[in-house]
Amino acid sequence: MCGIVGYIGTKQAYPILIKGLKRLEYRGYDSSGVAISNGKTNIYKQKGKVSDLEAFIGDGNTSGTVGIGHTRWATHGEPNNENAHPHASENGKFIVIHNGIIENYSRIKQRLITRGYTFKSETDTEVLANLIEYIYIKGKVSAEIAVRLALSKVIGAYGIVIIAIDEPDKLIAARKGSPLVIGIGDGEYFIASDATPIIEYTKSVIYLNNDNVAIIKRNELTLKTLQNDKLEPNIQKLTMNIGAIEKNGYEHFMLKEIFEQPRSISDTFRGRIAADLSEVRLGGLLDVLPKLVNAKRIIIIACGTSWHAGLVGEYLIEEFARIPVEVEYGSEFRYRKPIIYKDDIVIAISQSGETADTLAAINIAKEAGATVIGVCNVVGSSIPRETHAGVYTHAGPEIGVASTKAFTAQVTVLTMLAAILGKERKTITDAQYGKMIEELIDVPNKIEEILKQDDLFEKIAALYKDKANFLYLGRGYLFPVALEGALKLKEISYIHAEGYPAAEMKHGPIALIDENMPVVVIATKDESYDKIVTNIQEVKARNGIVIAVVTKGDTVIKDMADHVLEVPESHKAIATLLSVVPLQLLSYHIAVMRGCNVDQPRNLAKSVTVE
Ligand code: G6P
Repeated sequence: MCGIVGYIGTKQAYPILIKGLKRLEYRGYDSSGVAISNGKTNIYKQKGKVSDLEAFIGDGNTSGTVGIGHTRWATHGEPNNENAHPHASENGKFIVIHNGIIENYSRIKQRLITRGYTFKSETDTEVLANLIEYIYIKGKVSAEIAVRLALSKVIGAYGIVIIAIDEPDKLIAARKGSPLVIGIGDGEYFIASDATPIIEYTKSVIYLNNDNVAIIKRNELTLKTLQNDKLEPNIQKLTMNIGAIEKNGYEHFMLKEIFEQPRSISDTFRGRIAADLSEVRLGGLLDVLPKLVNAKRIIIIACGTSWHAGLVGEYLIEEFARIPVEVEYGSEFRYRKPIIYKDDIVIAISQSGETADTLAAINIAKEAGATVIGVCNVVGSSIPRETHAGVYTHAGPEIGVASTKAFTAQVTVLTMLAAILGKERKTITDAQYGKMIEELIDVPNKIEEILKQDDLFEKIAALYKDKANFLYLGRGYLFPVALEGALKLKEISYIHAEGYPAAEMKHGPIALIDENMPVVVIATKDESYDKIVTNIQEVKARNGIVIAVVTKGDTVIKDMADHVLEVPESHKAIATLLSVVPLQLLSYHIAVMRGCNVDQPRNLAKSVTVE
């Protein structure tokens, strides 16, 4: 939530900041701003997208080789020019950009008001800027000390970058909870919420850890703890390439990411499956494998789309490994009184690795003594650092806010995990294990086949783009796919959509069905096929419109449904990976036809670092 960038070096900062903000816009896009120092510091901020900021700045003075920029997802105060970042302190000594939430800002604000401070915005960030300035002036200390002292009084999460007006040749950055990466150039440093704004300039990066403070000059970086202990920076090499974060000719990132799935799924299993298919190996789990194999219970924690992948994981692990699995929303888990045993295995699934509710749930599980495993996409993000072991999904950067390739990568990892556990626990035969792996590695080819039908999906989208509601139905493994299909439609087209277990339709949603209700039924062939055929008949009997995802060659449903979207035949668990693809494309086309901003849907953000 919120993207931040910073630059200090010999080049003009403004173009680097604007480009960086555009790359980070997926993190928030209700307002943006920059501050650029050149002897004097100019601050520009504007409600709306980064392009609105650019238009607003026009030919304004943006000269300077030190600068910071921010794109916002509002938490404290509505999206307007005043609440946009950067925020200057009252006497203009400090200029701050911030991602995160200062939980005790109200108390600090009251104290500062009694000491004569006034506030222009409703943000917690302006409070932080003024607190730093107050300590700086009152304590007659350096900017760095003022920042460290102020941060030690703050409760909450932050990734911040600060310009200190009296010390213009440096930037001060600090992290607690919200991510920050520093790119190391030649006589220059780049700072950002993730590596995407940095990758085109340098591959050498330092990921800040919690409570780290970096004092960054053109030729020198000093890393410390909040308590002033010096740290040796851990320089890492980025493996991502620039093509991965560009649209490469696609109209939207979401479309590119949907079409990338054959590749991203291959990347997820590449190097993890032996050439003769005899073994699947998840290197990051080897240390905890004995615990996993002997687990009495697994709890999967996630939010949004990742939670849907978690549900598929539940079905997979229970069926193949016969270990009881519970799937929890991070937000529910953290605020109820969950029972966690020391021998529980908790699997946290997250594309971004930064979701605040999932992170909080992880901490609760760790405190209770459970072993926590992360399944994340963003390398170096917070969840992989907080967990005992983990698996990266390797789907590559996902920029579209609505998750697509991350979901299929997560399900791929969970399929491999279920196969490993099943084999180790001898709850599946070698033949079943081999078949599963064989099917998994064939998924990319099968998805290629599905993607070739995109014109058909677009035509169907055109017929139903103006409908107000959609119902999605699935059974077994395909119920989470129904949830995911409905979520995709809601997120990007703003059409109300509900996912339901098909058998539950008769307990409520059936009352909604009439000639205006498209019902998307995921009905590929498995043991509940006959049941779902009955559900389709029930919908048709009430004049509902049926769009069915079916196994290629299915003639029974073809005769009943208004439209069929065919996917190749597969094992029922693998059908999740296949059947979700037409649903992603259906939502995509509907949203485009409705004129919606597909990559940046209103009110959403890709990485939700607030509770
Ligand atoms: C946000 C995103 C969703 C995502 C969810 C969980 O709501 O818009 O696409 O599924 O967060 O994110 P995570 O990064 O933890 O998977």
